[in-house]
Amino acid sequence: MGVTAQVSSGHVSTGHSAAALLERAARRALLAPSIHNTQPWRFVLTGDALEIRADPSRRLDVLDPRGRQLVISCGCALLHARITLQAAGHEPVVHRFPNPQDPELVARVEVGPVGTFPGSGSLDHAIDQRRTNRRQFIGDPLPQQLILHLQWIAHTEGAVLVPAVSPEAVAAVADTSAFADDIEMADAGYLAEIAAWTTDDPRRCDGVQMASVPRNGGGSSEGPMVREFDLDGLGWLPTPARETNRQTLLLLCARGDDERTWLRTGEALERIWLTLTDAGFSASPLTQAVEVRSAHRMLQERLGLSAIPQILLRAGQAPQAAASRRRPAREVITTRPATTADPTPQGGTP
Ligand SMILES: Cc1cc2nc3c(=O)[nH]c(=O)nc-3n(C[C@H](O)[C@H](O)[C@H](O)COP(=O)(O)O)c2cc1C
Repeated sequence: MGVTAQVSSGHVSTGHSAAALLERAARRALLAPSIHNTQPWRFVLTGDALEIRADPSRRLDVLDPRGRQLVISCGCALLHARITLQAAGHEPVVHRFPNPQDPELVARVEVGPVGTFPGSGSLDHAIDQRRTNRRQFIGDPLPQQLILHLQWIAHTEGAVLVPAVSPEAVAAVADTSAFADDIEMADAGYLAEIAAWTTDDPRRCDGVQMASVPRNGGGSSEGPMVREFDLDGLGWLPTPARETNRQTLLLLCARGDDERTWLRTGEALERIWLTLTDAGFSASPLTQAVEVRSAHRMLQERLGLSAIPQILLRAGQAPQAAASRRRPAREVITTRPATTADPTPQGGTP
């Protein structure tokens, strides 16, 4: 399918072919954040569509047996693809889990009509700037206006963002995170997974690099615990002092707990994260309290939530962290000509 330059609402399309736009979307999608930088995805270009596929061989069996965080990670990649197409002046047409016989196919993305998408250029730029910050935050916490804006963004992506700002809410999050962290750190299988997915090998293109984790002792008694990745004392970042009140805790919740909801949660997470980046703030997810079932229940009860907590984010101001690595495009992006076997679902959404 060729796409030629068109004019619509004063916006001129790039004039690139759909195939070129989708290839760029795939290259931008692989920059998405993922649990332990597992990059649990594959991208297949079929000429008129980009398939985003989950890679179950990269699932964390101990930490994430249901594949919830794997699918959330794929949702982050999907958001990158959507933003890339919008920034190029095209509406993305997205079919989520389009084929029940093919559960690894989490989304099919097509190039839709030319349009104008305010803010997409800034978010596209933020894709290259976004990092996970595991340092202590400095400077001012998030302004109230920005928190309200992020809540609206979560809403537009089908999620619910609950800021935990009162001392009671911060204590609830800190207590449940510490409780969950203790349980996970006592689990040999969990520790083995952390060791397998943490690396100081400069040639390795996945996993969490030592350059981006604090020397062991990432936790604090006043705020929730940053996940401990440094089991051998090789972390490059300074061990944080006692946490200050300069971080804002944001709990991203959903109305359900199935694969579709997880995918939408990932899209919401990444739109929030890119928006924070664009506004000059940093963030890092910390998900222990959501992973451990008893802690999850405790968190929901203490915060009085009807929605289901999916991801906790700490956000604030911090020096730019080092960029993490990604597997090369040739390993994760493949091309397959469209076949008549490919279902052509109707009624995709942006
Ligand atoms: C679903 C999800 C859960 C994550 N959970 C944590 C976490 O608990 N602790 C943490 O330090 N980072 C967490 N991260 C951040 C990843 O480790 C990070 O995205 C990855 O290492 C790539 O680094 P980058 O975000 O700087 O590109 C999570 C990311 C995702 C998408």
